[in-house]
Amino acid sequence: MNTESKAYLQQSDAVRARFDAIKQREVILETRHLGKSYSSTQGEVEALRDINFKIHRREFVCVVGPSGCGKSTLVRTLAGLEKHNAGEVLVDGKPVDGPGQDRGMVFQGYSLFPWLTVKKNVMFGPEMNGYGHDEAERDALQWLDLVGLTKFANAYPHQLSGGMRQRVAIARALVNQPRILLMDEPFGALDAQSRIKMQTHLLDIWRNVDITVVFITHDLDEAIFLADRILVLKPHPGEVQEMIEVPVPRPRSPEQFSGAEFRATKQRLEELIHPPVEYEEDEAEKAVKPHLIRFTHVTDNVE
Ligand SMILES: Nc1ncnc2c1ncn2[C@@H]1O[C@H](COP(=O)(O)OP(=O)(O)O)[C@@H](O)[C@H]1O
Ligand SMILES: [Mg+2]
Repeated sequence: MNTESKAYLQQSDAVRARFDAIKQREVILETRHLGKSYSSTQGEVEALRDINFKIHRREFVCVVGPSGCGKSTLVRTLAGLEKHNAGEVLVDGKPVDGPGQDRGMVFQGYSLFPWLTVKKNVMFGPEMNGYGHDEAERDALQWLDLVGLTKFANAYPHQLSGGMRQRVAIARALVNQPRILLMDEPFGALDAQSRIKMQTHLLDIWRNVDITVVFITHDLDEAIFLADRILVLKPHPGEVQEMIEVPVPRPRSPEQFSGAEFRATKQRLEELIHPPVEYEEDEAEKAVKPHLIRFTHVTDNVE
Protein backbone atom coordinates (compact mmCIF):
# COMPACT_ATOMS: atom_id res chain seq x y z
CA MET A 1 0.00 0.00 0.00
CA ASN A 2 1.26 3.44 -0.86
CA THR A 3 1.41 6.07 1.87
CA GLU A 4 0.46 9.42 0.42
CA SER A 5 0.02 11.89 3.27
CA LYS A 6 -3.48 13.20 3.55
CA ALA A 7 -4.52 16.69 4.49
CA TYR A 8 -8.21 16.38 5.30
CA LEU A 9 -8.75 19.89 6.64
CA GLN A 10 -8.33 23.25 5.02
CA GLN A 11 -4.83 24.21 6.16
CA SER A 12 -3.76 27.74 7.03
CA ASP A 13 -0.95 29.26 4.97
CA ALA A 14 1.45 28.87 7.91
CA VAL A 15 0.65 25.17 8.30
CA ARG A 16 0.87 24.60 4.54
CA ALA A 17 4.25 26.35 4.47
CA ARG A 18 5.49 24.17 7.33
CA PHE A 19 4.64 20.96 5.47
CA ASP A 20 6.19 22.30 2.26
CA ALA A 21 9.39 23.04 4.21
CA ILE A 22 9.41 19.54 5.72
CA LYS A 23 9.11 17.95 2.30
CA GLN A 24 12.12 19.97 1.09
CA ARG A 25 14.29 18.25 3.67
CA GLU A 26 15.98 14.97 2.79
CA VAL A 27 14.36 11.63 3.58
CA ILE A 28 16.15 10.15 6.59
CA LEU A 29 14.03 7.06 7.24
CA GLU A 30 12.12 5.03 4.71
CA THR A 31 10.38 1.69 4.60
CA ARG A 32 9.66 -0.16 1.36
CA HIS A 33 7.16 -3.01 1.40
CA LEU A 34 8.25 -3.79 4.95
CA GLY A 35 6.82 -7.02 6.35
CA LYS A 36 7.43 -8.95 9.53
CA SER A 37 6.13 -12.32 10.75
CA TYR A 38 6.87 -14.15 13.97
CA SER A 39 7.05 -17.92 14.16
CA SER A 40 5.21 -19.26 17.17
CA THR A 41 3.87 -22.60 18.34
CA GLN A 42 0.54 -21.75 16.68
CA GLY A 43 2.33 -21.10 13.39
CA GLU A 44 3.23 -17.84 11.69
CA VAL A 45 1.96 -14.56 13.16
CA GLU A 46 2.00 -11.80 10.58
CA ALA A 47 2.66 -8.58 12.52
CA LEU A 48 3.41 -6.08 9.72
CA ARG A 49 2.35 -6.13 6.08
CA ASP A 50 3.58 -3.97 3.21
CA ILE A 51 4.48 -0.84 5.20
CA ASN A 52 5.64 2.09 3.06
CA PHE A 53 6.53 5.56 4.32
CA LYS A 54 9.17 8.25 4.09
CA ILE A 55 10.14 10.44 7.03
CA HIS A 56 12.09 13.65 6.51
CA ARG A 57 14.92 14.97 8.65
CA ARG A 58 13.72 16.75 11.83
CA GLU A 59 10.20 15.47 11.34
CA PHE A 60 8.14 14.29 14.31
CA VAL A 61 5.99 11.31 13.34
CA CYS A 62 3.65 9.50 15.70
CA VAL A 63 2.33 6.00 15.06
CA VAL A 64 -1.10 5.06 16.41
CA GLY A 65 -3.30 2.01 16.12
CA PRO A 66 -5.22 -0.46 18.25
CA SER A 67 -3.43 -2.71 20.71
CA GLY A 68 -1.69 -5.63 18.99
CA CYS A 69 -1.61 -3.95 15.57
CA GLY A 70 2.18 -4.08 15.38
CA LYS A 71 3.34 -0.68 16.72
CA SER A 72 6.08 -2.14 18.91
CA THR A 73 7.08 -4.54 16.16
CA LEU A 74 7.41 -1.62 13.75
CA VAL A 75 9.59 0.47 16.05
CA ARG A 76 11.75 -2.51 17.02
CA THR A 77 12.21 -3.34 13.35
CA LEU A 78 13.22 0.27 12.61
CA ALA A 79 15.69 0.00 15.49
CA GLY A 80 17.10 -3.21 14.00
CA LEU A 81 16.21 -5.14 17.16
CA GLU A 82 13.87 -7.38 15.15
CA LYS A 83 14.73 -8.80 11.75
CA HIS A 84 12.12 -8.05 9.09
CA ASN A 85 11.36 -10.76 6.57
CA ALA A 86 10.04 -8.69 3.69
CA GLY A 87 10.99 -5.37 2.16
CA GLU A 88 13.49 -2.87 3.47
CA VAL A 89 14.20 -0.26 6.12
CA LEU A 90 16.50 2.49 4.88
CA VAL A 91 18.29 5.08 7.00
CA ASP A 92 19.83 7.78 4.83
CA GLY A 93 19.21 5.48 1.88
CA LYS A 94 21.20 2.59 3.40
CA PRO A 95 19.49 -0.69 4.35
CA VAL A 96 19.26 -1.44 8.08
CA ASP A 97 20.19 -4.92 9.21
CA GLY A 98 20.75 -4.42 12.93
CA PRO A 99 20.98 -1.80 15.67
CA GLY A 100 23.20 1.20 15.02
CA GLN A 101 24.33 4.42 16.65
CA ASP A 102 22.28 6.43 14.17
CA ARG A 103 19.13 5.27 16.02
CA GLY A 104 18.42 5.72 19.74
CA MET A 105 15.56 4.08 21.57
CA VAL A 106 13.40 4.92 24.60
CA PHE A 107 10.92 2.33 25.92
CA GLN A 108 7.98 2.63 28.28
CA GLY A 109 9.59 0.53 31.02
CA TYR A 110 12.35 2.21 32.91
CA SER A 111 15.39 0.65 31.36
CA LEU A 112 17.94 2.43 33.57
CA PHE A 113 20.57 0.53 35.53
CA PRO A 114 19.34 0.81 39.14
CA TRP A 115 22.83 0.35 40.60
CA LEU A 116 24.30 3.31 38.68
CA THR A 117 23.77 7.01 39.38
CA VAL A 118 21.91 9.14 36.87
CA LYS A 119 25.18 10.49 35.51
CA LYS A 120 26.77 7.03 35.23
CA ASN A 121 23.66 5.75 33.45
CA VAL A 122 24.13 8.44 30.80
CA MET A 123 27.92 7.89 30.66
CA PHE A 124 27.43 4.16 30.04
CA GLY A 125 26.87 4.44 26.25
CA PRO A 126 29.82 6.74 25.48
CA GLU A 127 32.12 4.63 27.68
CA MET A 128 31.01 1.47 25.86
CA ASN A 129 31.80 3.27 22.62
CA GLY A 130 35.38 3.88 23.73
CA TYR A 131 35.19 7.44 25.07
CA GLY A 132 37.44 8.21 28.04
CA HIS A 133 35.91 8.91 31.45
CA ASP A 134 36.29 12.71 31.25
CA GLU A 135 34.83 13.00 27.80
CA ALA A 136 31.92 10.69 28.66
CA GLU A 137 31.26 12.68 31.84
CA ARG A 138 31.35 16.00 29.99
CA ASP A 139 28.85 14.73 27.41
CA ALA A 140 26.62 13.17 30.07
CA LEU A 141 26.46 16.42 32.04
CA GLN A 142 25.66 18.38 28.92
CA TRP A 143 22.68 16.14 28.10
CA LEU A 144 21.53 16.04 31.71
CA ASP A 145 21.51 19.82 31.61
CA LEU A 146 19.38 19.74 28.47
CA VAL A 147 16.79 17.50 30.12
CA GLY A 148 16.90 19.66 33.29
CA LEU A 149 18.44 17.09 35.62
CA THR A 150 21.81 18.62 36.49
CA LYS A 151 20.88 18.69 40.17
CA PHE A 152 20.13 14.96 40.14
CA ALA A 153 23.33 13.78 38.44
CA ASN A 154 24.42 11.85 41.53
CA ALA A 155 21.00 10.49 42.48
CA TYR A 156 19.99 6.87 41.85
CA PRO A 157 17.05 6.00 39.59
CA HIS A 158 14.84 4.87 42.51
CA GLN A 159 15.10 8.36 44.01
CA LEU A 160 13.48 9.94 40.93
CA SER A 161 9.87 10.30 39.82
CA GLY A 162 8.67 8.38 36.76
CA GLY A 163 8.90 11.49 34.57
CA MET A 164 12.45 12.21 35.71
CA ARG A 165 13.49 8.63 34.99
CA GLN A 166 12.18 8.96 31.46
CA ARG A 167 14.15 12.19 31.09
CA VAL A 168 17.28 10.23 32.04
CA ALA A 169 16.31 7.60 29.46
CA ILE A 170 16.03 10.36 26.83
CA ALA A 171 19.43 11.81 27.82
CA ARG A 172 20.90 8.31 27.67
CA ALA A 173 19.58 7.82 24.15
CA LEU A 174 20.64 11.29 22.93
CA VAL A 175 24.17 11.21 24.35
CA ASN A 176 25.15 8.80 21.57
CA GLN A 177 24.07 11.50 19.09
CA PRO A 178 21.61 9.38 17.10
CA ARG A 179 19.94 10.95 14.07
CA ILE A 180 16.65 9.23 14.81
CA LEU A 181 14.98 8.81 18.19
CA LEU A 182 12.58 5.85 18.37
CA MET A 183 10.16 5.97 21.29
CA ASP A 184 7.72 3.19 22.20
CA GLU A 185 4.96 4.58 24.45
CA PRO A 186 7.61 6.30 26.59
CA PHE A 187 5.10 8.18 28.74
CA GLY A 188 2.52 5.39 28.92
CA ALA A 189 3.16 4.68 32.61
CA LEU A 190 2.98 8.31 33.76
CA ASP A 191 0.00 10.06 35.36
CA ALA A 192 -1.83 12.61 33.21
CA GLN A 193 -0.06 15.67 34.62
CA SER A 194 3.47 14.28 34.36
CA ARG A 195 2.63 13.12 30.90
CA ILE A 196 1.72 16.53 29.54
CA LYS A 197 4.82 18.00 31.18
CA MET A 198 6.99 15.38 29.50
CA GLN A 199 5.32 15.96 26.14
CA THR A 200 6.05 19.69 26.37
CA HIS A 201 9.59 18.93 27.48
CA LEU A 202 10.14 16.52 24.59
CA LEU A 203 8.96 19.16 22.09
CA ASP A 204 11.49 21.60 23.62
CA ILE A 205 14.28 19.05 23.20
CA TRP A 206 13.21 18.26 19.65
CA ARG A 207 13.24 21.97 18.77
CA ASN A 208 16.81 22.35 20.04
CA VAL A 209 18.42 19.13 18.83
CA ASP A 210 18.89 17.90 15.26
CA ILE A 211 16.79 14.81 15.76
CA THR A 212 13.99 13.03 13.89
CA VAL A 213 11.43 11.36 16.13
CA VAL A 214 9.25 8.29 15.59
CA PHE A 215 6.94 8.09 18.59
CA ILE A 216 4.54 5.22 19.25
CA THR A 217 1.45 5.88 21.32
CA HIS A 218 -2.12 4.71 21.63
CA ASP A 219 -3.11 8.08 23.12
CA LEU A 220 -4.62 10.17 20.32
CA ASP A 221 -4.29 13.48 22.22
CA GLU A 222 -0.60 12.77 22.73
CA ALA A 223 -0.12 12.00 19.04
CA ILE A 224 -1.85 15.20 17.90
CA PHE A 225 0.00 17.34 20.44
CA LEU A 226 3.41 16.04 19.37
CA ALA A 227 3.33 15.09 15.71
CA ASP A 228 3.83 16.70 12.34
CA ARG A 229 2.27 13.62 10.78
CA ILE A 230 0.49 10.62 12.26
CA LEU A 231 0.80 7.15 10.77
CA VAL A 232 -2.39 5.22 11.47
CA LEU A 233 -2.07 1.43 11.42
CA LYS A 234 -4.96 -0.95 10.76
CA PRO A 235 -5.81 -3.63 13.32
CA HIS A 236 -3.71 -6.77 13.24
CA PRO A 237 -1.92 -7.50 10.95
CA GLY A 238 -0.44 -4.00 10.90
CA GLU A 239 -0.89 -2.31 7.57
CA VAL A 240 -0.84 1.39 6.86
CA GLN A 241 -4.32 2.83 7.01
CA GLU A 242 -3.40 6.45 6.48
CA MET A 243 -0.68 9.01 7.05
CA ILE A 244 -2.27 12.28 8.13
CA GLU A 245 -0.84 15.77 8.38
CA VAL A 246 -1.63 17.43 11.71
CA PRO A 247 -2.95 20.92 11.00
CA VAL A 248 -2.39 22.23 14.56
CA PRO A 249 0.09 25.15 14.33
CA ARG A 250 3.43 25.14 16.15
CA PRO A 251 4.68 25.97 18.69
CA ARG A 252 2.20 23.73 20.45
CA SER A 253 0.70 24.43 23.84
CA PRO A 254 -1.82 22.51 25.96
CA GLU A 255 -4.43 25.26 25.33
CA GLN A 256 -4.68 23.95 21.76
CA PHE A 257 -6.35 20.75 23.00
CA SER A 258 -9.68 22.53 22.83
CA GLY A 259 -8.99 24.27 19.50
CA ALA A 260 -10.86 23.54 16.27
CA GLU A 261 -7.89 21.95 14.44
CA PHE A 262 -7.14 19.69 17.38
CA ARG A 263 -10.72 18.49 17.73
CA ALA A 264 -11.10 17.91 13.99
CA THR A 265 -7.89 15.86 13.92
CA LYS A 266 -9.07 13.79 16.86
CA GLN A 267 -12.40 13.16 15.21
CA ARG A 268 -10.65 12.04 12.02
CA LEU A 269 -8.39 9.66 13.99
CA GLU A 270 -11.33 8.24 15.87
CA GLU A 271 -13.18 7.57 12.61
CA LEU A 272 -10.15 5.70 11.33
CA ILE A 273 -9.46 3.70 14.48
CA HIS A 274 -13.01 3.06 15.66
CA PRO A 275 -15.19 2.90 12.53
CA PRO A 276 -18.94 2.96 13.25
CA VAL A 277 -20.29 -0.52 14.11
CA GLU A 278 -23.50 -1.92 12.64
CA TYR A 279 -26.15 -1.50 15.29
CA GLU A 280 -29.23 -3.75 15.48
CA GLU A 281 -32.00 -1.81 17.23
CA ASP A 282 -34.05 -4.89 18.21
CA GLU A 283 -31.09 -6.74 19.66
CA ALA A 284 -30.06 -3.71 21.66
CA GLU A 285 -33.55 -3.20 23.06
CA LYS A 286 -33.81 -6.81 24.12
CA ALA A 287 -30.51 -6.53 25.89
CA VAL A 288 -31.33 -3.35 27.77
CA LYS A 289 -34.98 -3.83 28.84
CA PRO A 290 -34.54 -6.34 31.65
CA HIS A 291 -32.10 -3.95 33.28
CA LEU A 292 -34.44 -0.97 33.44
CA ILE A 293 -34.59 -0.78 37.20
CA ARG A 294 -35.15 2.44 39.09
CA PHE A 295 -32.82 2.86 41.98
CA THR A 296 -33.96 6.37 42.87
CA HIS A 297 -37.25 8.03 43.63
CA VAL A 298 -39.17 9.23 40.59
CA THR A 299 -39.37 12.74 42.02
CA ASP A 300 -35.63 13.06 42.50
CA ASN A 301 -34.42 15.95 40.43
CA VAL A 302 -30.81 15.33 39.59
CA GLU A 303 -30.44 17.79 36.76
N1 LIG B 1 7.97 -12.10 20.03
C1 LIG B 1 6.79 -12.37 19.47
N2 LIG B 1 6.46 -13.63 19.10
C2 LIG B 1 5.28 -13.90 18.51
N3 LIG B 1 4.33 -12.98 18.26
C3 LIG B 1 4.59 -11.71 18.61
C4 LIG B 1 5.82 -11.32 19.24
N4 LIG B 1 5.79 -9.99 19.48
C5 LIG B 1 4.59 -9.55 19.04
N5 LIG B 1 3.88 -10.58 18.51
C6 LIG B 1 2.53 -10.48 17.89
O1 LIG B 1 2.60 -9.51 16.86
C7 LIG B 1 1.44 -8.69 16.86
C8 LIG B 1 1.84 -7.23 17.07
O2 LIG B 1 2.36 -7.04 18.38
P1 LIG B 1 2.95 -5.66 18.88
O3 LIG B 1 3.92 -5.16 17.87
O4 LIG B 1 3.44 -5.84 20.26
O5 LIG B 1 1.64 -4.72 18.87
P2 LIG B 1 1.35 -3.31 19.60
O6 LIG B 1 2.66 -2.74 20.06
O7 LIG B 1 0.67 -2.48 18.54
O8 LIG B 1 0.40 -3.60 20.73
C9 LIG B 1 0.55 -9.24 17.96
O9 LIG B 1 -0.37 -10.13 17.38
C10 LIG B 1 1.50 -9.97 18.87
O10 LIG B 1 0.85 -11.03 19.53
MG1 LIG C 1 3.33 -2.11 21.96
